[in-house]
Order: sequence, then C-alpha cells, then structure tokens
Amino acid sequence: MSLIFACQDVPPAPWIAALGKALPEAEIHVWPDHGKVEEVEFALIWGPYAREMKRFPNLKAMMSLGAGVDHILEQVDRPMHVPVVRLIDPGLKTGMVEYVLYNVLRYHRRMPDFEQQQKKALWIERSQATPSERRIGILGLGEIGLACAEALNRLGFDLIGWSRTKKEILDVGCFYGDETLKPFLSQSSILICLLPLTPETEGILNKATLAAMPAGSYLINVGRGGHLVEGDLLDALNSGHIAAATLDVFREEPLPKDHPFWRHPNVTVTPHIAALTLPQTAAPVIADIIERVRAGRKVPGMIDPAVGY
Ligand code: NAP
Ligand code: GLV
Repeated sequence: MSLIFACQDVPPAPWIAALGKALPEAEIHVWPDHGKVEEVEFALIWGPYAREMKRFPNLKAMMSLGAGVDHILEQVDRPMHVPVVRLIDPGLKTGMVEYVLYNVLRYHRRMPDFEQQQKKALWIERSQATPSERRIGILGLGEIGLACAEALNRLGFDLIGWSRTKKEILDVGCFYGDETLKPFLSQSSILICLLPLTPETEGILNKATLAAMPAGSYLINVGRGGHLVEGDLLDALNSGHIAAATLDVFREEPLPKDHPFWRHPNVTVTPHIAALTLPQTAAPVIADIIERVRAGRKVPGMIDPAVGY
C-alpha cells in the first residue's frame, strides 16, 4: 500500500517521520513522486491536487490535511467515485479553541481600545462586562464550534449557536436553518464563524447579515475567506456598526500587500494560522482513517458530497 502526500507549502519531512511511525507498513511518496500508480491507495491533500489523483486506479480515499475540504470538493474534475475525508484531529481542535478564546477575551476585555490608548499615552478606565453579560454567537456547531462553545461556557459566557440541523446542547441557545439566521445574528455581540465553505455558506457574512448584528459588535472569521464579502465588512467597519474584526482567512491567500485589511485600524489579520495541522497529533488520526477504510468500517470525518462538508 502506498500513500501520496500532496500538500502545497507544507514541509514534508516532519510528516514523513510521523506517518512512518503511525503507518510502518506504508510506502510514502511526496507529490509529484508517486511510485507505481496501481499501489497508491490513499492521498493526503492540501491544495489543488485532487484532480491529479485520477491517475491512481486503486485510490480508496482522499484525505484533507485539515478540517476543511473545500480545496478538494471545488475540483469537480477530481475522481468523483473516491471518498473524501476531513481530519477530526485533537491537536487542530485545541489550536482553534486557543485562537478563539484569545480573540474573544481580547474583545470582551476591550484590549484594542487600550492598545489605541497606549499609542497616545492615555490613562482611561473603560466599563467592564461580566462574561454572562456577553452573548457570543457561533456559526457552525460542528467538531470545532462545539469545542469552542465548551471552552467559552467554562468561562461563563452566554452562548448561542447556529447549525444546519437541529441540536440540543446544554447551556447553548441553539438555532438552526436559514430562517433563524437573522434572529441569531441580532443577538451575537461577538460572532465567530466556524462554518465549512459550501455553496450555501459562500458569502454568508455580507451587507445584510452584518447589518443584522448588534451595533458595536465584533467578528472573528476562522472559517474560510469565501464566507465574507470583504467590501461589505469594510463598509460596516467604516460606519462603526461593526466595532472590529479578527480575520484569519481570506478570499485570496496570501492576502495581497495592498489589501485595505492590512492597514485598517479595527482589523486584525493573521495568516491562516488559527490552527495548523500538526504531524504528531494528525498522523494517528490518518492511520485510523486508513485502517477503517481498508476494513470497510465507519470513518469519522467522511464527507457527504450532497451537503458539501
Ligand atoms: P464540521 O464538524 O463539519 O462542522 C460544520 C458545522 O457547520 C456543523 O455544525 C454544520 O451544521 C454547520 N453548517 C454547515 N453548513 C451549514 C449551513 N448551510 N447552515 C447552517 N450551518 C451549517 O466542521 P469543523 O471541523 O468544525 O470545521 C469547520 C470549519 O472550520 C472547516 O470547514 C474549516 O473551513 C474551518 N477551519 C479553519 C481553520 C483555520 O486555521 N482557520 C482550522 C480548522 C478548520 P450541522 O451540525 O447541522 O451539520
Ligand atoms: C484549516 O484551515 C483547516 O481546514 O484545517
């Protein structure tokens, strides 16, 4: 059995080492090397390589190197009969929770105001809310949304969440379906986007939905750049309706040097690092997926192409 590692801008050496340990029997090739085409059974993909996998007649699964699979599903000329699997990786989840907690607390405790004050040597106290007075909305209550909700709940925040299907989660006000999106947004004073990018969620953060949020609210987008209509956010920031935004993902990555987000005083840009997939936690997850696919068992993270995530 061989596995192809086809991941753009990801140094392969630590992956080869971790995968070699987790899958001692596998032959691992780094794209474009692939050995004998008939021996390739699995592919680990990050970036625009899914279409290249058509050359492997015995391919059993294409695994994303991350939680998102939009980079695979958007390639409609990929081998459509081959299942696509995303990673449900404890390390990735921890990284996302850290990033979300850090940025929620930064806004909750008004740190951007104090950062601005320091530039002018201004000593000004500001009002402080308790976590229970802060309602936080999470778009997407999947693996990562739920982990963030649990961590925010432990800090005492007032939580609501939005998903496609109905949910009942202790201490989280659950909304589901398109009709509830605006009522949900109208109560989200800090909004965290943790949706997958699908035809239904593309452009979901736009003029109308941003306007539905309370005046002076905050946005944290860690889903995908395609969720946000960037010009609409700039308008909402410039009017003051949205107080500030933290953006980790963008329509074009790397974010072009002349993009207004880089210099906007109320935008924090990070270079798609909310959580990196780490070989040491992901390799055992990948080995488990391979074992399950080969044994014909249920695979966590199997994508339903009909819903797109
Ligand atoms: P997941 O487990 O598949 O959860 C997706 C959630 O979104 C589910 O709750 C789902 O609803 C909801 N959803 C999907 N389509 C919807 C729609 N049309 N309307 C309402 N809700 C919808 O995914 P995950 O593992 O939590 O990851 C979420 C996303 O985070 C990834 O796809 C990726 O884009 C992003 N991500 C980013 C980074 C980063 O570094 N920036 C790292 C990891 C992940 P149901 O529960 O009803 O199915
Ligand atoms: C990162 O963006 C991921 O989808 O894991």
